[in-house]
Amino acid sequence: MTKIVRTIDTLRETVRAWQMAGETTALVPTMGYLHDAHQTLIKAGRAKSDRTVVSIFVNPKQFGPNEDFKSYPRQEKRDLEILEACGADLVFLPAQEEMYPSGFSATIDIPAFSNKLCGIGRPGHFSGVATVCTKLFLQCMPDMAVFGEKDYQQLQIIRWLVKDLNIDVDICGVPTVREEDGLAMSSRNIYLNADERTRASQISAILSASAKRLSDGMPVDQELNNAFIKFASLVGETPEYLELCDAQDLEIIKQVRKPARLLVAVKLGKTRLIDNWPVSPINS
Ligand code: PAF
Repeated sequence: MTKIVRTIDTLRETVRAWQMAGETTALVPTMGYLHDAHQTLIKAGRAKSDRTVVSIFVNPKQFGPNEDFKSYPRQEKRDLEILEACGADLVFLPAQEEMYPSGFSATIDIPAFSNKLCGIGRPGHFSGVATVCTKLFLQCMPDMAVFGEKDYQQLQIIRWLVKDLNIDVDICGVPTVREEDGLAMSSRNIYLNADERTRASQISAILSASAKRLSDGMPVDQELNNAFIKFASLVGETPEYLELCDAQDLEIIKQVRKPARLLVAVKLGKTRLIDNWPVSPINS
């Protein structure tokens, strides 16, 4: 049975009791509307720990004023059924007031990582993510926390944050889970209409082909220009960004000497989609 917990006190008591019994805990932070990719994260948590906690909290601090906080899909009953089927031990479902009681004012910011890529078009987004994840880590005190590589910048920010703040949680990154046609799974894919959904499958196709050419030694500027034009013609407007970055510190790079990541954000109709692909240095 998945235990449903809505207060920080009960979450702490439960996890502490597991720790006293010598059991390890993995935390899988989510905003709910669970799909197959979340199930993969939960499976990874279960494989690496004795106990798995899944948090479901649509975090207002990571949505901009014109973003979809109010309309973000929510389906608590179905999420609970999925968690039960996945064998999650506990679901933490805090109310807004439990997470951010009135007067709450702390902010965690990792500016070196946050003011680029998605951070440019979504100011404040990553400080919202970093703040809620720090709180979740301190509330749950898990041994490890599991995040998907789909949100690669988020994953690297969380890695940096636990290092900077000496939070004793191992961060486990799980490769992106994709639909059969390659589209990276995301709760926001439901916003796509039929035509947009068909075109969306090309995002991973363009990205992976470009990442392969970069891994094969194609000059970076030339390849990024070509891929940029392909993305622009796919979505009918300029991509929000297309960058090749160092895989660890996300510095924008012009040559592939270390493991790198090709990252893109585009808008298809009203829906913003992101994806990323690994790029390896030649001869690695
Ligand atoms: O990736 C998400 O769903 C969210 O950004 C997270 C990590 C749960 C924080 O709200």
